[in-house]
Amino acid sequence: VSDRRPIGVFDSGVGGLTVAAALERRLPAESILYLGDTARLPYGTKSEQTVARYTQTNVDFLAGRGVKAVVVACNTASALALPHLATALPVWGVIEPGAERAVELSAGRVGVIATESTVRSEAYAQALRRRRADLEVLSRACPLLVPLVEEGWLDDPVTSAVLVRYLAPLLAAGIDTLVLGCTHYPLLAPAIRAVTGPDVRLVDSAEAVAAEVAAGLAERGLESDRHTGADHICVTDAAAHFERLARTILERPVRLELVDLHTAGGQEP
Ligand code: DGL
Repeated sequence: VSDRRPIGVFDSGVGGLTVAAALERRLPAESILYLGDTARLPYGTKSEQTVARYTQTNVDFLAGRGVKAVVVACNTASALALPHLATALPVWGVIEPGAERAVELSAGRVGVIATESTVRSEAYAQALRRRRADLEVLSRACPLLVPLVEEGWLDDPVTSAVLVRYLAPLLAAGIDTLVLGCTHYPLLAPAIRAVTGPDVRLVDSAEAVAAEVAAGLAERGLESDRHTGADHICVTDAAAHFERLARTILERPVRLELVDLHTAGGQEP
């Protein structure tokens, strides 16, 4: 048996493509339908009710396009919306795999950087302490980072200055591991590394999520035997730098489709 329906992956913007890239490397026979909800970005400053509503529309849209499973490639949506989600499809979020990886790597003091809403939810602190009760967890909301990434300022003195300011208290507290608790942040990994120095371990949940999805598809008999060549990216607004960033992250040409989540129709942006 083979199930060639795509895996649906969504985020508020380009960040979730870091997870899509890990899925492509790990599961080359799977096709991916990506949704970047650029019209409603950012999610990270919004309330639980709003993020839950956005997440439900995204999952319904992907389900309507015939996906076989959904990856919530957004920490904010994983933290706030997963418990409220109504769907018959298998769904994976990014928080639990990231917490698992951090606990494996840390000697005892973990820093978490994420959006305001993710930090407020305490989803990481809870997921980490559930695995190791004596772990020290220091969280910091970094609301300026998502706009900097969406603007494509990955290697820029302004971004570096912002990172120094956000990371200083965590580094002063002696963290040994830093969770990149927003799927946009792995794009800043070189800039973050330059601030933390080589001794702090950086945790990006993308690889861990891809491993979970691989196991979950196999368990349910949902694996595909061959790629259909139909990968593409839906966006809810024609974001200025989306295509260039998407090409950089996926290391291949991309096809964008502008969609209206309520009519599920599409057109070239
Ligand atoms: N990439 C999303 C996350 O992982 C959030 C971006 C946003 O604030 O929209 O949290």
